[in-house]
Amino acid sequence: MTRTIGVVSGKGGVGKTTLVSNLTHTLTDLGKSVTAIDTNVTTPHLGIHLGYHLVPKSLHDYLRGHAKINEVVYSHPHGFRLVPGSLSVNDMIGVNPDKLQSLTLNLTGKSDIILLDSAPSLGKEATLSLKLADELILLANPNLPSVLDVLKTAKVAEKLDKIILGVVVNRTKKGVGNMSAKEIESVTKYPVIGVIPEDDNVQKSLAARNAVVEFSPNSPASIEFKRIAHNLVGKKFNYSTNFWTKFLEWLK
Ligand SMILES: Nc1ncnc2c1ncn2[C@@H]1O[C@H](COP(=O)(O)OP(=O)(O)OP(=O)(O)O)[C@@H](O)[C@H]1O
Ligand SMILES: [Mg+2]
Repeated sequence: MTRTIGVVSGKGGVGKTTLVSNLTHTLTDLGKSVTAIDTNVTTPHLGIHLGYHLVPKSLHDYLRGHAKINEVVYSHPHGFRLVPGSLSVNDMIGVNPDKLQSLTLNLTGKSDIILLDSAPSLGKEATLSLKLADELILLANPNLPSVLDVLKTAKVAEKLDKIILGVVVNRTKKGVGNMSAKEIESVTKYPVIGVIPEDDNVQKSLAARNAVVEFSPNSPASIEFKRIAHNLVGKKFNYSTNFWTKFLEWLK
């Protein structure tokens, strides 16, 4: 049975696409067949994160009725599939996201896991992603506005009877008054299932149009992305690296 997992946040720019692209890579490494779908129709960035931003046909062509499903599903050399959106503003104007449902349903059953990258806010587009997912990961930065937006998103998800897997906290920095995992759990009433540190390698990997778990596999953020992926599929995560691996990472 296919698990359809959405990454949602309420607030924009917190790291949803980053989480989706890294989980897509790592879950594939764990032997799962994965399809990542960009359901952020207005500002789709999944293609940029995964190096598929200049494609002949995109999600937007499908939504407009100008492409068939198999024309917008791309096979990545890493072994997963993805449906990227178009970066063109002309493709975005007036496009109706409703056909995302038929796309997702069509791909259900063809992968072990479908990951949905969602739009920010709680408008029509983001709410549609909530509806399409069976399970949700709430993603927040460690500050009150971000956590409150996650809480709002969780309330909408609860009304839709969705399974909420927990909160992933992204971009924690030492010594800058971050909310702790305990505080976030007490506000949201959901468990924190991952804590990803601020890590320059994430931005560098984006510039290279790659996921950080590939670009810099032993960097602090990569290790946490891998830990979350293992937990999602109930696998034990044993991280160990030798001196030379750490040294090569440090040199980057
Ligand atoms: N742990 C991290 N360390 C450093 N930079 C990060 C980290 N996580 C994400 N970023 C950076 O933050 C920016 C926003 O990330 P991303 O695009 O994934 O957010 P988003 O929630 O998908 O945004 P939107 O709501 O616009 O879709 C990117 O430049 C990304 O490289
Ligand atoms: Mg995004």
